[in-house]
Amino acid sequence: MERLDKRLSSTGRWSRKEARELIRAGRVRVDGQVVRAPEEKVGRQVPVMVDGEDVGGGGPVYLMMNKPAGLVSATEDPRQETVLSLLPERYRRLGLFPAGRLDKDTEGLLLLTNDGPLAHRLLAPKNHVDKVYYLEVDGALDEADCRVVAEGMTLPDGLTCLPGKLEPFPGENRGYITIREGKYHQIKRMMEALGKPVTYLKRVRFGPLTLDETLEKGGWRALTEEEIRVLFGQ
Ligand code: URA
Repeated sequence: MERLDKRLSSTGRWSRKEARELIRAGRVRVDGQVVRAPEEKVGRQVPVMVDGEDVGGGGPVYLMMNKPAGLVSATEDPRQETVLSLLPERYRRLGLFPAGRLDKDTEGLLLLTNDGPLAHRLLAPKNHVDKVYYLEVDGALDEADCRVVAEGMTLPDGLTCLPGKLEPFPGENRGYITIREGKYHQIKRMMEALGKPVTYLKRVRFGPLTLDETLEKGGWRALTEEEIRVLFGQ
């Protein structure tokens, strides 16, 4: 059960204040009956109409973003622009936050949601959700690098990394790397320790989600029903 004014504002179409005004003006029906009390408790499945139009279920929201470089993965920042600034106002009212962080200069797949329990589950270190990144480094990647990453590295600064998977394009300075945790600047620190610093990093998979490559940099879209289903199948 949630308050009627909250149910309306959680659709992103009205602020809490606008919702209260609509309710007091007699424009909102709950299960067919006009309700004028913003604090009225409403079940999630009970239909709510504004001016005769169903406002929808008020459930959680899941968005996929192709994060561009230059924005921070946070909901607010006193000095820097955040990924939320790419969303229209109606989405910014929904309490969305990035599930996991990408560095300011990292691009690619970012999940934005207001589903705290799901995000917590995906990010809990013990759950070891795979994250796959496309990377470019300064120097050629070789078999020795792959073995070191596969064994699990201990970095000079003491950071211990779970075994990962490095898959270079043969003879090139680029490829894919899979890690199962998300420690601060982890990939950059791993590659630095191998003497091949990262020059470009882009996340292409997050658990069962694959970046939709048709999204332009800075583009976003709602997850499909199928993507939400596999996310919960984790
Ligand atoms: N590892 C990094 O170093 N940076 C990221 O943004 C993600 C993983």
